[in-house]
Formats: sequence, structure tokens, C-alpha cells
Amino acid sequence: MVRLSRRNFLKSAVAAGVLLSAGGVIRAIDQGGFATGRGAAYEPWHTWMEEEAGKDPMLRLVRASILAANAHNTQPWLYRLNEQGINIYADISRNIGTMDPLFREMNISLGCAIENAIISAKAYGYDAKATIIPGQFDSIHIANIALTQGSPEQSELFHAIGSRHTNRAAYDRNKQVDSDVLQQLDRLADDLPDVKAVWFADASLKEKLGHCIIRATEAIVNDPIQAGDSHKWYRHDWDEIQRHKDGTTLDATGNSALTRFFGKLTPVSEQTSNNYWLKMTKEIHVPTAAVFGMILVKDQSDRVQLLQAGRLWQRMHLWSAVHGLAMQPLNQPHERRDREFQLGIEPVFGQAIMELTGEPGFEGVFTFRAGYPVSEGLASPRRSAEEVLLAR
Ligand SMILES: Cc1cc2nc3c(=O)[nH]c(=O)nc-3n(C[C@H](O)[C@H](O)[C@H](O)COP(=O)(O)O)c2cc1C
Repeated sequence: MVRLSRRNFLKSAVAAGVLLSAGGVIRAIDQGGFATGRGAAYEPWHTWMEEEAGKDPMLRLVRASILAANAHNTQPWLYRLNEQGINIYADISRNIGTMDPLFREMNISLGCAIENAIISAKAYGYDAKATIIPGQFDSIHIANIALTQGSPEQSELFHAIGSRHTNRAAYDRNKQVDSDVLQQLDRLADDLPDVKAVWFADASLKEKLGHCIIRATEAIVNDPIQAGDSHKWYRHDWDEIQRHKDGTTLDATGNSALTRFFGKLTPVSEQTSNNYWLKMTKEIHVPTAAVFGMILVKDQSDRVQLLQAGRLWQRMHLWSAVHGLAMQPLNQPHERRDREFQLGIEPVFGQAIMELTGEPGFEGVFTFRAGYPVSEGLASPRRSAEEVLLAR
């Protein structure tokens, strides 16, 4: 048996490390390990305010609109410009299947996109009159935003459109969100009839909702069809991200730069990614939330109310970006509630949400956490405005 001296062992280890890391570095470059937020898939975040000569000035509103929050980064929108303004359509081919069987999240996502379009219309000097169009899933014309000449008015929310990102990292456990901050967030709903936010700030309420979020995550992970529909939108590598320009990514998980770097070196199976999601929910998302919030509407089967809920979420998230707060939706209880409804099984989560909100005449449709960030949230990919524009 050949015995290695300590010195020789160290030399071999270093040599192996160099070889491995050379291969690793090549793969890391290949997988965008050093290129967080770069490439065509991230370009819309850098150019959203640019006006291109020869292009319709209204296209700038679409450039702002597509940076909106949206479920699983599915970007379920299409736009058509005409002389009078912008029309927004749902692209129902981009639904998340059993994760969103009632299209609740798709409609909220479209509401977020409408809000960014309206905020930017004002900034660019248009008077914007939005007509939200009611209807069922098969009727996909969602909104008309009529534009007439007004005077430019750049709000603080407008400036945050390009810096708002979902933050899935740990939040500062020692910093509470003051009640006056929550009141300012509440006021963002003042002109949105039928929609409001409620807060879960004290320890016992937080514990109840946190527990519900964890149980719902477990239920999704244990439902292979639902978990599979969720995982379909996970983009594994650089090529996939740059090709699809949508979906969820490792960079947006809230992990440290080192974990993200090494994570890009090895492909992730659905099982690993589910376990990891559950672990993050239990150890980071729920316990480091300074406060949970829930958006309520009077009737969650009413598309207009869901779109208004989306407008409120986009406003609140932009406001949080301006004021140094971090936010992350945690919609697992609602995703399970809708799945129970679809399957016609006992409404465990439907009941739990009702008990948690305790607001007669209102239904919870969207849950999130807020707190002060320890690290910044990173950008998610986007298809460009041109890629989601229908011919006139
Ligand atoms: C209706 C809706 C539901 C969402 N649900 C979740 C969720 O349950 N968990 C989560 O981490 N993010 C959730 N998000 C955030 C999206 O995943 C995020 O907006 C999208 O990936 C784009 O990233 P960005 O917000 O950083 O631009 C949701 C967003 C919307 C609008």
C-alpha cells in the first residue's frame, strides 16, 4: 500500500482542487455563474425608460408594465396599442395549471401589469382612464387604458418600477415594521373599492398564519401534480433563462452569492427543489417575517376585484421598494384552497383562510410577508415589450 506523506497529500489535494475548479469555472461561466442579471433576459430592467426613435411612445408604458410582479414569473400578458391607448389581454396559455386552477393568480398578475402601465402613463404626461373588463376565463380582453394628453407627473412609485424585486432572503429579525408604515400601505387601497389589506403583526396571529403557510407548502409538495405544475416554470440554467426569459430562477431564491454560484454547477431535480422550497419556507420565509399581510376582496370569483387586488399588490410592493422594505408573496394557502375547490375535497385551507381573516364579507386572495432586508432581492427575467405586443 502506498502511503502518502502529509506534504504529498496536501499537494495532491491542491492539484485536484485546481483541476476540479478549472472544470467548475468553465461550467459556472456556461451557467451564468458570474452573470447574475445580465443578458437579453434581463435587458428590460435596464432599458425600461428608454424611448426609441421611430417607435410608438406608448410602447414605454408597455416596457414599464411588463416589469410588474406576476405569479411564477409566467408573464401572462399580451398588449395591443391603437390610436386611443393600450389594450391588455390575458395569455391563458401561460397559466400554472393546478397551482392556479381558478386563474386567481393570473388575474392578480394582470392587475399588477395594469398598475405599472397607469403609473407610467401619468409619468409620461398622459391622462389615463382604465376600464377593467369583467368576464370569465375564456374572455381574455382584460383592460383598456385610454390615453389622452395630460401633464407629466412622476410619482415616487414610478421611479421604483425598475428596482422592485421579490425578496426571498431572510429579513432582519430585530426590526419590526411600525404600525404607521402599515397604515400608509393601507391607504394605497383608498381608491380601490372592494379591496383591502389586513395585517398579522402580533406573535399569535403570525404563528397561526405562518403555520398555515408551512402546512400548505407541505400539501403542495405532497401533491405530485400540483408540485409538477409549479416546477415546470423553474428555469434550470443560463440557456433556459435566456431562451424563455420567464419563470423562477436560482438567482431569485434569496440565497447567498456563494450558494447560487455552486447551485449553478449542478442540475437540480424536482425533488431537491421541492425539499429546498419547504426548508426555506420553514427556516427563512416564515420565521424572519416581521409581519404578514393579506389582501382581501369581497368576492374572489369576480375578475374585476382580483385585478384590483393585483393593482394594490403592485402599489404596495413599489411603495416598499421606495421605503426600504422587503416583500415576498407566500400564496401557498390560497393555492391549496383553489386546488381543494378544483378537486371537490374538504376545504381545509379554505376554512383556515376564512378563520384567519375574520372579516365578514371579505375573502383572502393573496398572502405576503414584509420586513427589513438583510440582502437585496435580485431581478427575474422578462420578455421584452416587443415580444408581447400584438400587431395593431
Ligand atoms: C399573484 C402572484 C402570486 C405570487 N405568489 C408567490 C409565492 O407564493 N411565492 C413567491 O415566492 N413569490 C410569489 N410571487 C412573486 C412572483 O414569483 C414574482 O413576482 C415573479 O417571479 C417576478 O419576480 P419579481 O417580482 O422579482 O419581478 C407571486 C406574485 C404574484 C403577482
